[in-house]
Amino acid sequence: MTKAETLEQIIAERRTVKPEAYNGKRLDEALVKRVLASANWAPTHGYTEPWRFVVYSGESLKALGTFLATLDQPDKTDPDFNPVRFERLQNRPGLASHVIGIAMRAGDNPKIPEVEEVCAVAMAVQNMWLTAYSLGVVGYWSTGSKAYTDELRDFFGFDERHNAMGLFYLGLSDAQIPPGRRLSGIEAKTTWK
Ligand SMILES: Cc1cc2nc3c(=O)[nH]c(=O)nc-3n(C[C@H](O)[C@H](O)[C@H](O)COP(=O)(O)O)c2cc1C
Repeated sequence: MTKAETLEQIIAERRTVKPEAYNGKRLDEALVKRVLASANWAPTHGYTEPWRFVVYSGESLKALGTFLATLDQPDKTDPDFNPVRFERLQNRPGLASHVIGIAMRAGDNPKIPEVEEVCAVAMAVQNMWLTAYSLGVVGYWSTGSKAYTDELRDFFGFDERHNAMGLFYLGLSDAQIPPGRRLSGIEAKTTWK
């Protein structure tokens, strides 16, 4: 296979695989470091390198789960409190080998709009995701309504110059990688002039 064919295959085969499909095996830290190293090769406007990550594994996954479940349902005495949902959210990070908290650090250069920093973080996550897949590791970018909150940012341990951008789950799966699905081909989304 040519370099291009290998890359195209990795891009096309990378899938979202959620922690419920992970097999509970733990990844070597060296492998997670390799995935993170790829993130750092994402391009940026002005070398802002705005991606910031917090890696949770082992015991810290439990704290993360409890935090997420409590953020979702802070009041256990609320008549609408749903204990099943609470437990599901609480246990979810523990299904992964590692969960990487994703944040964006706002830059100092007023010429670089925030949207570019968000784009750069997303490119960093894609780099991680592709590298992970090429190493036989599956991943899932989880956001939802609480992903961009100050509470999550604070939990990560970042100050107000940062924005939380969700969580990246990593693990190993014995299940078949699900087939890809796109609503339309690239032709429907491209205009040539
Ligand atoms: C920025 C971003 C946030 C996402 N957040 C969620 C999420 O909160 N819940 C979810 O089920 N999937 C989430 N996804 C994954 C998408 O659902 C998934 O990428 C899409 O269904 C396409 O599937 P694929 O990744 O296997 O190609 C997110 C993806 C991106 C890029």
